[in-house]
Amino acid sequence: MLQGKTIVLGISGGIAAYKAATICSRLVQAGAQVRVVMTASATKFISPLTLQTLSRHPVYLDTFDEFDPSVVAHIDLADSADLMLIAPATANILGKMANGLADDMLSTTLLAATAPVIVAPAMNVHMYAHPAVERNMAVLAERGVRFVEPGTGLLACGYVGKGRLSEPEEIVLAVQQWFASKTELEGKSVVVTAGGTVERLDPVRFLTNDSSGKMGFAIAEAAANRGANVTLIAARTTAPQVEGFNVVHVESAEQMLEAVLERYDSADIVIKAAAVADYRPVVQASSKIKKNEERLTIELERTTDILKTLGERKSHQFLVGFAAETEQVERYAMDKLVRKNADLIVANDVSKDGAGFNVDTNVVQVFGAEGLVESLPMLHKREVADRLMSRIVQRMQARAAGEAAK
Ligand code: PMT
Repeated sequence: MLQGKTIVLGISGGIAAYKAATICSRLVQAGAQVRVVMTASATKFISPLTLQTLSRHPVYLDTFDEFDPSVVAHIDLADSADLMLIAPATANILGKMANGLADDMLSTTLLAATAPVIVAPAMNVHMYAHPAVERNMAVLAERGVRFVEPGTGLLACGYVGKGRLSEPEEIVLAVQQWFASKTELEGKSVVVTAGGTVERLDPVRFLTNDSSGKMGFAIAEAAANRGANVTLIAARTTAPQVEGFNVVHVESAEQMLEAVLERYDSADIVIKAAAVADYRPVVQASSKIKKNEERLTIELERTTDILKTLGERKSHQFLVGFAAETEQVERYAMDKLVRKNADLIVANDVSKDGAGFNVDTNVVQVFGAEGLVESLPMLHKREVADRLMSRIVQRMQARAAGEAAK
């Protein structure tokens, strides 16, 4: 599976550095070309000769060791990477990565690399829980760095807690899954909606909501990362622009409905993360409404429920809706799943801190026809999106296998 892939394995200085030998060996056995970079501290725990022997390549230790005068070593190494894997990653290297520091071969190569990065942290339980480390990891997650979470158990420092490097097998599996996921949705068309719709009262005033579009953008990115042909239909958003998919800008619920329907027949997956207005003004004034009266009454009418319309017209599509709830999450989510004929409903309790509108994280529960499918802890929206895509792919594969067996 890793045949022809170049993985740059960065080893930083913690006791778990010895486990990097097994990781290196397993990656080589799986067919990868492994180029190892060690920090000075890592060499106190494990000899570069071990990694050189296992990887069958020289180990990079110093930025100024320029073995080949025709290239600049750290740039050449960074450019060669299909994936950067940092295992173990200490609090120090996480801090350097988050803040763009480049004072040794590993941090300099990381700064020069455009390849995706997987990080397997390992450190003392209190260091792992330190706000500075948490903030650095959040910054890295925001940039798309993936984490193989440390395990809980007896740590080398004598403490029992979270911070132990994940097992080499799990880290290698995460690498293999990452490469496999790149093609999972090749040839599939995915339509995602994001942001808050805008319903105009007059040329300068409108009704909208707090949706930033971050959840929808993260989902579009996760689908594109799996090789899908993605169209994101975006209403009002403040999410940073991302490359790798088409963005169609719309304003109102009606425009979003049209844009989605235009693409529905050829779509394989539709994910409705947008916060769509349930009501719009009956009259849209063509000039600015004047403040002549003490009171102003605006009459609203229902918009079309896009998700419900899609559910009614569903043929082969896998349809995913969201549910923004503040109470009785399961009851309302299951009601939406049935009423709107969705395959999955992602419910977020928007009354919780760190969940829902306009924040970088979300806390979601995923519901299917059988009830609760999974309950995720507070995660960065990118991670939520990634796990949701994995769940969708898994369900689509099971459905295809079921149909093939008929
Ligand atoms: O954009 P962010 O700041 O990142 O925030 C993310 C989010 C909170 C907006 C997102 O996670 C979310 O919950 N989106 C759905 C919000 C919503 O409108 O929920 P709802 O429970 O009112 O609607 C249920 C489903 O029906 C949604 O999939 C919605 O897109 C859809 N709907 C609703 C009304 C309508 N007229 N047409 C629809 O398609």
